[in-house]
Amino acid sequence: MSDKIRLAVIGAGQRGPSHARAIQRCQETKLVLVCDRDESRAQKAAIDFGVGYVLDHREAIQRDDVDALAIATHTRHHVEVMRDVVQAGKPFLVEKPYAADVGLGKSVCEIAERNGVVAMVGFQLRFTPFAQQIKVLTEQIDLVQANVSLQRGFFNPQYFFAEHYSGILDALSHTIDLALWWTEAPPVEVIAHQQTGLFKPDKKAVEFTNILARCQGGQMICMTGSMAGLKMQNIFQLVGTKGNISALDQSRIRYLTHHGFKEDKIPINLQEGEWYNDGQAGTGMWTHFATCVRDGKTDVSPGASLREGLAGVAVSQAAYASSKERKAISITL
Ligand SMILES: NC(=O)c1ccc[n+]([C@@H]2O[C@H](COP(=O)([O-])OP(=O)(O)OC[C@H]3O[C@@H](n4cnc5c(N)ncnc54)[C@H](O)[C@@H]3O)[C@@H](O)[C@H]2O)c1
Repeated sequence: MSDKIRLAVIGAGQRGPSHARAIQRCQETKLVLVCDRDESRAQKAAIDFGVGYVLDHREAIQRDDVDALAIATHTRHHVEVMRDVVQAGKPFLVEKPYAADVGLGKSVCEIAERNGVVAMVGFQLRFTPFAQQIKVLTEQIDLVQANVSLQRGFFNPQYFFAEHYSGILDALSHTIDLALWWTEAPPVEVIAHQQTGLFKPDKKAVEFTNILARCQGGQMICMTGSMAGLKMQNIFQLVGTKGNISALDQSRIRYLTHHGFKEDKIPINLQEGEWYNDGQAGTGMWTHFATCVRDGKTDVSPGASLREGLAGVAVSQAAYASSKERKAISITL
């Protein structure tokens, strides 16, 4: 292996080029190839980043000068590419959500785990100081309830289709991942209500969603999102038996911790604090991925493992089914 981890980016739509840029900025990684089965996209990315291109992902995987892969195809195509990468035993980072179906995702996750392949899901928000600060704080409050929101403006056309991971769920998958990561318990049941096709009736993408997930330890996560929330602030509220945390967008966190309540209402040893964001994710995810590849580390934390990514897919898929069937959906991972 050369000094830098040499990467090929598969998929040169919207996300692939932003990975290519981050890989070129990161000290530990080097972009050597781009791949898209749409030749005009592959060619454009190759020119933009000054590297070669191929049209077939299997060719990119087989290349001796490619140490690892960044998979940024569409969510409905990730598993097919992942299978080939896992078979070749090469490390990879795959975009979220990584499977259109939890069963398909599980099968490739299990093969990767069995074969000891270094694999990470591209949940880059885990590498922000904001998310990491909340992670530290949630460990102190005995988390019971999380209320998180993602209100956004409209997305590009490739996110409008009638599937559980469509529309707002594409971006909400980050919020779902953070909530599950902070909660540290697998989801076991989901109830949801969703609105599809209010803005684009012919597409039937999920435009508004309210999801309630119950986790194995009894923790409850409420996730709200829409594509009509242009310029709205997003709220994160995490409540436990030993404190609480609230945050607006990703810039400011207020928290308090205690040792329980005296006379049912007076917090014992109450500590209060505030935290302000002082940095962005930068290339942290790629630096970390490169370290895992170099050290052959299959525990990719704080990055998201395939198994953790699967929990998010399961919540999204169960939410879609729950809304359609008007009933609670159990999750077994
Ligand atoms: N982490 C983030 O913040 C973030 C942001 C945007 C998108 N995403 C995710 O990134 C992924 C890609 O999104 P996008 O908007 O770029 O999609 P897109 O549809 O614009 O691009 C996907 C590209 O992959 C190509 N492709 C598909 N299968 C291929 C194969 N087998 N070999 C080579 N090329 C192939 C397509 O031709 C297309 O150009 C999605 O999973 C999306 O959810 C993540």
